Amino acid sequence: MVKIAFYTITGQTQRFINKTGLDAHRIEDAHPQYQMNDKYILILPSYQDFMMDSVVDFLTYKDNKENLLGLIGCGNRNFNDLFAQTAKKISVTLHVPILYLLELSGNSADVKNVRQIVKEACKEEHGTQKDLPIQNPSLSNINFLRDFRQKMNKKTYYKASNWNAVEDQVDRAAWARLNDIVYEPRRVPIYKDQDEFFHLPKNEQTMLLHSFVSLTLSSTLQMKVALSKIKEDAENSDEEAAVYNALQYLESINNKAYGHALNVFASKEEQNESYEWVHNNPYLQKKMKLLNTVYQAENSIHKKAAHVFISTGLYHSSFFGPLYLFGQHKLPRTAELIKYALRITALNGIYTGIKFRRDFFKLSKEEQDTVHNWVSDLCDKLYDNELNHIKLLYHHTGLEDKVEHYIRYTLNKALMNLGQEPKYPENIEILDPILITGIMDSAMIEDFFFYTNAHPILKMREIKK
Ligand SMILES: Cc1cc2nc3c(=O)[nH]c(=O)nc-3n(C[C@H](O)[C@H](O)[C@H](O)COP(=O)(O)O)c2cc1C
Repeated sequence: MVKIAFYTITGQTQRFINKTGLDAHRIEDAHPQYQMNDKYILILPSYQDFMMDSVVDFLTYKDNKENLLGLIGCGNRNFNDLFAQTAKKISVTLHVPILYLLELSGNSADVKNVRQIVKEACKEEHGTQKDLPIQNPSLSNINFLRDFRQKMNKKTYYKASNWNAVEDQVDRAAWARLNDIVYEPRRVPIYKDQDEFFHLPKNEQTMLLHSFVSLTLSSTLQMKVALSKIKEDAENSDEEAAVYNALQYLESINNKAYGHALNVFASKEEQNESYEWVHNNPYLQKKMKLLNTVYQAENSIHKKAAHVFISTGLYHSSFFGPLYLFGQHKLPRTAELIKYALRITALNGIYTGIKFRRDFFKLSKEEQDTVHNWVSDLCDKLYDNELNHIKLLYHHTGLEDKVEHYIRYTLNKALMNLGQEPKYPENIEILDPILITGIMDSAMIEDFFFYTNAHPILKMREIKK
């Protein structure tokens, strides 16, 4: 019987395992060195390498490396070329196949497919694995959530943050990721795309300009309101507040990037027309109102949900245009800029989603039901409104249907990010292959060294062939 092992940090992979009903061993940070004793499949989320020390300790323990049949990688395609990076790195390092890739807590098709894979694996007679040298298991250097913060001393008026006493893994990982995704918009030479841009059909040019300015509008609300409002709730955690400070800074970079793109491709007159278009667009304005009302209402969990809906879901109606063109190998530098922006937007959604789930799963069943209904209702309102916006934005481009599929797919991801089940039938298979190429292909074609996470594979500590 083939066994299953999995690792999880924020609970999404655990949720996926629960949905499959498979009996699985969870790799525990406190004692990762557990012997599987049998052939098994490993299901893993993706993070930076230093977050995977427990997995490394598990794999290098006794014969676990030799018994590994294959990997199932979980991640988020918004990380484009880093999608499922952990499973991919281990696959290359240990010469074990990737059996399947999925996003977040998976949808019903993922559940079905993975059950099938496990069933097939159980049926098959596997040959002997490669004779790989066993590493000495080394001690994990992850220090685990030490939620022993001292209670506020009554005499103290104000407390200094103590970074040395902080061990929240997610904050630590998010902080490290922040440094990797800082960029300077003007260093991406999108002016080299000008010629190609001016040869696009006029309606596509307009769609792109309106996409940039729609992104600017949403980003302005995030930068000026959402992140400050959410940060107010991080009062018990200085490092969480620090991450939100940084996310706010990064959102300001994105804000500037969209303005930069508009400036490169549009005359002053066209820029004014584009700004007027967003300011008079009833659906964009309604979206801002729906979200801002939530941010101003001071309900901590609602604010986070609204932020996740825009970051993981709605932004993508405007990212679609440039990504779709890039999927046809058009405007590569503009795609590069958009991908930098997307990384920041993705981290905003992922990080806030984790904090939402932390709060949500602490609630009683009844309270969870109330929040679930509220989230579902907000999702419906935002979705209905977004369809109208998509019709305006993609008018005469023939792309409306494809964008609608994409927005349902991204809203499913937002729901998963919020610990809820996806509500739309869309999954990655339904999306247009051109869009998938646009999302997944690397746009880094220039001599552009700012993005520091483009390191070669096989840097992961300790796992060696
Ligand atoms: C700080 C951070 C870094 C991440 N890096 C990646 C990445 O490089 N590639 C990827 O595909 N997903 C990445 N993700 C997304 C997670 O892999 C994804 O949300 C996964 O479902 C989390 O699983 P878990 O909740 O079981 O830990 C990252 C998430 C966080 C919070």
